[in-house]
Amino acid sequence: MPDAAAPAAAEMSTAEMIRLCKEHTLYTWSAGNAVDPLPIARAGGVYIYTPEGKRILDFNAQLMSVLIGHQHPKVIAAMKKQLDELIFVYPQTATLPRARLARLLAEVVPGMQSFFFTLGGAEANENAIKLARQYTGRHKIISRYRSYHGGTNLTMQLTGDPRRWSSEPGAPGVVRVMDPTPYQFSFGTTDAERCDNHLRYLEEVIEYENPKAIAAMIVETVTGTNGVLVPPAGWFPKLRALLDKHGILLICDEVMAGMGRTGKMMAYEHFGITPDLVTMAKGLTSSYFPLGAVGMRKELHDFFQTNVFWGGLTYNSHPVGMATAEAVIRVMIDEGMIENAARLQGLMRSEMDRLQARHPSVAEGRCIGLFGMMDVRRNAKGDPIAPYNGSHPAMGKLAKFFKDEGLFTFVRWSSFTCNPPLCITDEQLLEGFAIIDRGLDITDAAFEG
Ligand SMILES: Cc1ncc(COP(=O)(O)O)c(C=O)c1O
Repeated sequence: MPDAAAPAAAEMSTAEMIRLCKEHTLYTWSAGNAVDPLPIARAGGVYIYTPEGKRILDFNAQLMSVLIGHQHPKVIAAMKKQLDELIFVYPQTATLPRARLARLLAEVVPGMQSFFFTLGGAEANENAIKLARQYTGRHKIISRYRSYHGGTNLTMQLTGDPRRWSSEPGAPGVVRVMDPTPYQFSFGTTDAERCDNHLRYLEEVIEYENPKAIAAMIVETVTGTNGVLVPPAGWFPKLRALLDKHGILLICDEVMAGMGRTGKMMAYEHFGITPDLVTMAKGLTSSYFPLGAVGMRKELHDFFQTNVFWGGLTYNSHPVGMATAEAVIRVMIDEGMIENAARLQGLMRSEMDRLQARHPSVAEGRCIGLFGMMDVRRNAKGDPIAPYNGSHPAMGKLAKFFKDEGLFTFVRWSSFTCNPPLCITDEQLLEGFAIIDRGLDITDAAFEG
C-alpha cells in the first residue's frame, strides 16, 4: 500500500479551499456555520493526510465504508481499465463488468440469487421495500427505533433515530418497534429472556397492525450508528420463524455491517439465518465509487421474471461501479481482510476491556469483527454522560482531542466508534487505542463517581 503523504501542488491555500466549500456547498446533517471541515488532500491505506501532510489514522474508515483501505492500487487499476473500455451504457444492456460482478456476488453473498443495483444504501433500501411490497401485495413495513436506513423520504421514515424527526410526517405505512436490546428499557436479563419477551411484544404489535397488511420487517443485522448492537443469541432464528408464520419478509440492511466488517462477508452469516432481501452499499465498493445493491432470494427473483419490477435508476448497473465492486471484493478476499477483521476482534476486545478497567468513565465497549463502539458514562450507576440525542462538554473535548492527535473517528452523544479499514495491522490498531487511552482522561475528569 503506497504511503500517500507527498505534498500536492498547491492550487489554492487550505483556507481558500475551506472557504469555497463552505460558501458554495451544503454540508450534511449540520448548520453550515457550525461545520469545521477537515481539509484532506491525500489518503493511503489506513491513513488520510491534510494538505500540509499531517497524518491522520482513519479509525472510522470514513463513513464506516472504506473497508479495504484508501487508494488500493489494484482497484484503481481496475477502475482505470473500465474507464478506458466503457464508462456508461443504459441499464437494459448486458455488459462484462455487470456479468462478472453478478457471478461473484451470487457466489459470496449466501442465499441470494440476484441483485438490483443502486447508487447507495438509501436507494438500496427504497428498492428493497418496493420489491417486498410488489412481491407480497402488502403495504406496511416494520422497522426499529435504534436504526438508520438512509436520508431519502421513505428511508428517513424507516429510520428510528432522531435524524428522522425533521422529515416527519413522511411516507405512511411504517411501524416502528423497540429493539431486543435498547439501552434503557430491558426485555430481560438473559439472552433467552430478551428473545422471548421481545418477540412476544413484536407478535402483539403484528396482530394489532394486521399481519396481512405487513410486507416486511427491515433490520440492521448488527445495528450501526445507533450503538453497534449485536442481537441477543438466538433472536434471529426466532424472529425469522415469527415473520414466516405471518408471511412477512425479512430485509437485512447490511449497508454498514456487511461486506466483511463483522469478520464474515455478510453479518447474517453469524446468526444462522438467510433474509429474503439484503441491502448493501458502502463496503461494496469500499466507497471508491457510489454503488448499492439489493440481493434477493430465488423466490423473489423468480417472481420478477413474470411480474414487472416497477423501479429504475439512470445509473443502475453502472459499468464503472460494477468493475469497482468486483475489484474491491477480490482484493478483500485475496488479501484475507475478512479473516483479518475476525482475527483482530480479539485485540479490539482486549483493548476495550483494558480501557474499561483503566478509565472509570468507560461504560463498556462492544465489537464484532472490526465493528466497534465505546460508551462513556457519567457516574458509577452507569448513566450515559450525555442524554439521548444530546451532548456533554467532555465529549466535545474528547472529539477535539482525537482530531488534534490525528485520530479520525465519530463521537456522538455518549459514544465513539472504532471502525478502522479491515486492512489495519495489529500495530496500527494499538496506535489508535493508545490515542483513545489518553483521550479518556478527559472524560474521567468529568466522571461524577
Ligand atoms: C445501516 C445503513 N443503512 C443505510 C444507509 C444509507 O446509505 P447511503 O448513505 O449510502 O444512502 C446507511 C448510511 O450510513 C447505513 O448505515
